[in-house]
Amino acid sequence: MKFVTVSALLIQVSLAAAAADYEKDIKALFKERCVSCHGSVKQKGGLRLDAGALIAKGGKHPVIVSGDSKRSALMDRVLSHDEDERMPPEGKRLTSGQIEMLRQWIDAGAAYPKNEAIPKMPSEHWSFQTVKRPPVPETTHEHPIDAFIFGKRDPAPRAAPQALLRRLYLDLTGLPPTLAEQDESHKTCPAVIDNLLTRPEYGERWARHWLDVVRYADSNGYERDAEKPFVWRYRDYVIEALNKDKPFDRFVIEQLAGDELPDSTLETRIATGFLRLGHWDDEPADPATDRYDQLDDIVSTTGQAFLGLTIGCARCHDHKFEPLATRDYYSLVAVFNPLERPRKGRTELTVPVDGKEIYTWREPSAKAPETHVLIRGSPTRLGELVEPAVPAILAKTGSSFSKSRLGLAQWIASNGNPLTARVIVNRVWQQHFGQGLVTSANDFGLMGAAPAHPELLDWLAHWFMHDAKWSLKQLHHLILTSRAWQSVRSSDSITRYRRLEVETIRDSMLAVSGQLNPKRFGPAMKPAIPTAAIEANTDKEKVWQASDAREASRRSIYAFIKRGLVVPMLETLDLADTVSSCPQRQITTVAPQALTLFNGDFVNQQAKHFAARLKREAGSEPAQQITLAWRLALCRKPTADEQAKMQSFLNEESLEQACRVILNLNEFVYPE
Ligand code: HEC
Ligand code: HEC
Repeated sequence: MKFVTVSALLIQVSLAAAAADYEKDIKALFKERCVSCHGSVKQKGGLRLDAGALIAKGGKHPVIVSGDSKRSALMDRVLSHDEDERMPPEGKRLTSGQIEMLRQWIDAGAAYPKNEAIPKMPSEHWSFQTVKRPPVPETTHEHPIDAFIFGKRDPAPRAAPQALLRRLYLDLTGLPPTLAEQDESHKTCPAVIDNLLTRPEYGERWARHWLDVVRYADSNGYERDAEKPFVWRYRDYVIEALNKDKPFDRFVIEQLAGDELPDSTLETRIATGFLRLGHWDDEPADPATDRYDQLDDIVSTTGQAFLGLTIGCARCHDHKFEPLATRDYYSLVAVFNPLERPRKGRTELTVPVDGKEIYTWREPSAKAPETHVLIRGSPTRLGELVEPAVPAILAKTGSSFSKSRLGLAQWIASNGNPLTARVIVNRVWQQHFGQGLVTSANDFGLMGAAPAHPELLDWLAHWFMHDAKWSLKQLHHLILTSRAWQSVRSSDSITRYRRLEVETIRDSMLAVSGQLNPKRFGPAMKPAIPTAAIEANTDKEKVWQASDAREASRRSIYAFIKRGLVVPMLETLDLADTVSSCPQRQITTVAPQALTLFNGDFVNQQAKHFAARLKREAGSEPAQQITLAWRLALCRKPTADEQAKMQSFLNEESLEQACRVILNLNEFVYPE
């Protein structure tokens, strides 16, 4: 026996104790270092190491002899000094602690839980299966969503009518109901929903969600961060598409290939601005890499936005966790490779269509350039030649694929594609409930979250395609009329409390103060950047000339999004990151938010206007002023207690200060 010090012995003993834990240690080690080649996606040497039973089974030969690590091939492979033999073949070798752990586990009998689930093969993954409509569970609930959510249980109680009205308005239009609208309390809920869905404000609110998903910004980012000329036409296209209730399948096709449609129009060509929204370095160090970065932006965003697939991970190596190979990735690159960015040196050009200049790519040559797999993602290391194709794992789904951009668009938007409808239905659900049925809205792959209600998700997706014919307005109507959505918010109910998005906070303040400028469409407005932020910005040239107060009081969707300088109020309150597709806004809670909402220039100005409005419309009587303020801001009358507190506040402070407090009430930003 070797001589060991006491401390070394202690380490050995503690390792031995830890080694017994298959779930915690062994499985985690295999997952981290082995499963990318020996799992459900790939089985190098015919071996899987992602479940105990499969480890016991081995590959071409058995790899462990239970109880005898010395005769176990697996140990030989991790210990080997021969580079061609050693596992893992890439990256650092296993540490001596890890090797010891494996040895102990095998010597102790290589035990694993008998009921351990064996990970399914990728082709069996739920989201790759054609959508079928499950039956609605038989319950007493009339609404199909409620039947799935509540089952045989009683539904949660419905929120109070005024709270529900405010919630509906904020959710669908991003603005609170006016006094007159609050008085229409006799209207039934479905009638209010239908009415709101016909308003132009609906598109202005919901376009923002889509713009997050497609990484929309008004500038290119990087050093010069130049403005993207006329990119706002794409933003207006999205607003109008939603307001017209353009079927979502058509919406997808227009953005990917609106120029190739037989019935292409100015509108469908503007839609392809989607392809050019990414950030772009106008003076790249390496033009060849830059070219592939641009194509990567399109391929990755297309994968995430429409299909919920992280295809971008297959640019340099086969995807380590998903059944997506570099070949799949470059086959998609081949679809977009004919596109060229119109430019003159560093300056971007637009493409004239019907006498307007529009922001899109052009396809200069009818002959598509050759596309190769790039080994390790390097433009100088050409691998096999590839043709346009859809990912092999999905090739049998959707309609047939015709090797063109339009072909890809049609394949994505076809009823047989298992992902597209599930992904968009889940996004809409997420916006209404705060959390998707699948919490990873951009990732429906093997590594994505499992759906909380798989049958409901499939029912909705099938209904959306076949009954609603891809109508988003019908989907909103269905969701909003459910008790699940209308129920009282609480921390454990399906509709949780959550902070309004920054656009809705800002727009609501403008509406309440009476300053909202309803002007629609056209070039972006530029809100004032507070002096402190200008001081902090080292490159003062990047700061724009602010629009005048009237123009800057337009809805937030019209605010200029400069990648290198985001309006501080928007940034502090979690505007989406525009570098890549944003599946869901973060909701952070940090001190600068309180400062922005309480001390920021914008809020102070709106408080002043709000106070002036109260004096104008409610007269000089404080009780009347407070009642009006409450109704405008919170859509309800103040309680006796609130009335008394505000009155005593007004004895000390100005009405303007009171308004500042009201705009900062929890209820204002966290609706019931
Ligand atoms: C980058 C891919 C890759 C990773 C990661 C990897 N392997 Fe392998 N492994 C292979 C390939 C390829 C083979 C088949 C060729 C060979 O036997 O060398 C193989 C074969 C084996 C075999 C022999 C199977 C048989 O039936 O003969 C064992 C045992 C093995 N690997 C264990 C491991 C372990 C343990 C890990 C993690 C610590 C690991 N491998 C990580 C690629 C990988
Ligand atoms: C720009 C190139 C590039 C992209 C894009 C890329 N990777 Fe990698 N990745 C590498 C390189 C290089 C390595 C190290 C060598 C190897 O394992 O192939 C690596 C290694 C890995 C490893 C470690 C593998 C092991 O066996 O230890 C994982 C896991 C991984 N990548 C996952 C991802 C995921 C997930 C994505 C997408 C979010 C991604 N990669 C995108 C270049 C890239």
